[in-house]
Order: sequence, then C-alpha cells, then structure tokens
Amino acid sequence: MKKEFLWGCATAANQIEGAVLEDGKGYSVSDALKAGMNGGYDLDVSGVYPTHTGIDYYHHYQDDIRMFAEMGIKVFRMSIAWSRIFPLGIEEEPNEAGLLFYDRVFDELEKYHIQPLVTMCHYEMPLHLSKHFNGFAGREAVDAFVRYAKTLLDRYQNRVKYWVTFNEINVMMISPFCGGGVTELGENPQQTLNQAIHNQLVASARAVAYAHSLNKNLTVGCMIASGPWYPLSCRPEDVFLAMRKNQSTLLFSDVQAKGRYPFHIVADWEKKGINVRMEEGDAEDLTHTVDFIGISYYQSRCASTDPAEQEKAKGNLFSACRNPYLKASDWGWPVDPLGLRYTLNILYERYQKPIFILENGLGAHDKVSEDGKVHDPYRIEYLSAHIRAMEEAYRDGVDILGLTIWAPIDMVSFSTGEMAKRYGMIYVDKHDDGTGTGRRIKKDSYDWYRGVIERNGMEEESCQ
Ligand code: BG6
Repeated sequence: MKKEFLWGCATAANQIEGAVLEDGKGYSVSDALKAGMNGGYDLDVSGVYPTHTGIDYYHHYQDDIRMFAEMGIKVFRMSIAWSRIFPLGIEEEPNEAGLLFYDRVFDELEKYHIQPLVTMCHYEMPLHLSKHFNGFAGREAVDAFVRYAKTLLDRYQNRVKYWVTFNEINVMMISPFCGGGVTELGENPQQTLNQAIHNQLVASARAVAYAHSLNKNLTVGCMIASGPWYPLSCRPEDVFLAMRKNQSTLLFSDVQAKGRYPFHIVADWEKKGINVRMEEGDAEDLTHTVDFIGISYYQSRCASTDPAEQEKAKGNLFSACRNPYLKASDWGWPVDPLGLRYTLNILYERYQKPIFILENGLGAHDKVSEDGKVHDPYRIEYLSAHIRAMEEAYRDGVDILGLTIWAPIDMVSFSTGEMAKRYGMIYVDKHDDGTGTGRRIKKDSYDWYRGVIERNGMEEESCQ
C-alpha cells in the first residue's frame, strides 16, 4: 500500500469501556440493550446489561493501549461516549470528568505516536434524548448533537485530525433506536423515520461545517455499514430489487458526500406522501460534505423477489437471502472478500473521495489452548483474504486512506451482546456468565498483524 497508509484497529466506547455511570456518565441507548441490538431494549435500564461492564477498558486503557502499540498500529479508531460528556444530552456545559478521561486516553496514544480517529457517536446517544425527544425524530437532538460535536472539536482539534460523525448511520433504517434513539414510530412510521433521518443528516452536516470552519487540518468522514446487494439470480426483477437495496444502503452517504438528497428518495417521498419538515437553512447545511467515506465491511448480501428463496441468512444488521457460493462465519455471516474490492470500486466511482475502511473482522469462538495460547488461524485467513482484496482495489486505482480492523481486543458484540462472539487479536478472559479474570492474552493474529503492518501489506514488495 502507499507509504502513508494508515494501518490500525477499531473499537467503540460502549463495547469496551464499562464504568457505565462512573465519573458522571449517563446512560446511552447502548446501555439499554438487554442482549445487543437483536435482544431489544429497556428504557428503564433495570438490569445490568453487557455494555455496563464492557471489558473494563475504562480502568485498563493504559495497559491495553500499550499492547495495541506493540502491534505497531498507526491509527486507533475509538468513539467518545456522548453520555460521558453530556450525561443527559441537554446540559449547557459538558461534564469535565468525562473529558478528562479522554484527555488521558489521548495522552497515552500520543506516548506511542498512535493517531486517534474519533467517532463522535457509535450508537451512544444519551438515553434521556431518546426517552424525552424520541431521539433524532425530535429536532432537539440536532442541537444537542451539534453542541456535543463542537465541544469535542474545540477541545481536541489539535490532538485529533480524523473524525467520523455517526457510526454506520444507515443502521437507522433497520434499528431506529440504535441508529438514532427513536423509540416511537407512531401512526405513520415512514414519516417519522424519514424525519429522523433528515434531522440526523443535518446534525452531521453541521458538525462537518463547524470542523471545517474551525481548523483546516480537520478531516471528517461519514461512516456506513457497507456491503453490496447482489441479485440472487439474473431475473430482471431480482436485479432491480438489488439495485433498489443498494440505493437505500447508500442513501446516507449520498447526502453526506454529495450534499443533497438523491432523486429516488425525493420521488419516493412524493409517491408515499411523506412530508419531511425542513427548517430554514437545512438545505444549505447539507451542502457541507464530508472529506472521506468511512465504511464497515463484513459481508455481501443477496436479494430475491422469489418468496421461495427468502431463506434468511443470519446477519448482524441486514437479513438477506443465502448466497450458495459463499461460506459463512460461526454466526452465519457470509464471507466475501471480493465483495470488499467490489464495494471499494463502486464507492470510489460514485463519490470520488478517499475511502477509509473503518471496520472489517471476524467474530468467532476462540478458546485458550492447553499451551495457554489462543490460536486463531481462521481469523488470519479471513483478514488476509480481505487485505488482499483491499490491495487489489488499491491497484484498481481506488484511493484508500487506511484500514482499522475490528478489533484489537475482544469486546461485547453489538448485535448479540455476547462476549462469546470474539473479534479481537487480544483475548479477554471474560465470559457471558460473568466469570473470568479479565486477563488479556495475545492471539496468533496479533503477531500476524504486526508483521502485515511492518511489511506494509500482505507481500514484501506490496504496491510500494
Ligand atoms: C458493526 C458495528 O456493525 O459491526 C460494531 O459498528 C460491531 O459496533 C461490529 O461490533 C461487529 O458486529 P457484532 O454485532 O458482531 O458485534
């Protein structure tokens, strides 16, 4: 890859930090998830749910970052928990104790010359905004997010160059609660959903505008859950359906990268009688476009109009038909490295902006062997294939800024809330029944990735 390619790893505050109410933090929407996104939510937060303890990174961050540094990473993608900074989301002034925690995290990263890449909101809206304003369905959330974004940008503009406003913003389509804190879709769900989407896009664009006006060095991206929809067959109906699903996946990045709604959405609103309320200045705000396209890529999906083919493949986010040509992970996610090369080409052609692969990795059942080590050849195989596909896309001419692998360390799964679904290159001795010492053990993939970074890719002579 190019010399300045940013090799790194990715995490999210809600999945690692724990310390759910420590130092003034409030509950976030993720803290209300009983067993991940698939397990539903509880607005009263009456239990101790997986994110409440995470892997206790809040108290282990120094040791953990030292281990990340020894892997040789150049960039560390992390999120700041919105509800640590504004516990309810409505305060005028931020919670200084929350900010001090991230000051210390950045100190630690700087010590090892690791560049942070910060997601402002990784499913971490303060729960209060969700309960009282219906999340982004209420306009109040826009101001709350912009206040929060400005606080971060003001304080960290000289410490953080790369920013992302919302993680997987298109997840709003399948989980309005996780994506945008929306609890009530009401009598006209499409109306509410589209209003929430609009409000969130305005909030994101305002943060981008503020960053650009504040400091020319700041580079802000969008972030979508990517992965192409293939037609399951070449029946024109299947091809058309797949095209529609691809349009819907890219709706958010279309707005964030091009500064306006795509034609098919405007037409769809008209056809369905959806009347998205736009306030004065919204259209102008949306023209503040992102500097790069951030993606997560785990899998491709298949679409079919044939009811007999609606056999569902398991997937964390999007249900789709099973692709007979692909093997699947322990959790049934199709494994499709070529789909990554395909995605990178499609997105670069569409947006002509650099792309940052902000997530890619394998969730698997890892075990500590009798020799006390964790051997994960399947993860090395998965990641090697995807890095090779990325390198092919680079040779295709796609401008790729970096890759942050999900994940440097085991953590709570977003979709299932499990610890058993492990993505890390460092094992954490923590289990779903609450047992475990919390001890960290390097897996085989840890040393393998250090080698990849040292060689700047899969091959010695790789694309220099
Ligand atoms: C992405 C999310 O969807 O996939 C992460 O941004 C998540 O938060 C990752 O952890 C893997 O998904 P899961 O559900 O297997 O943890």
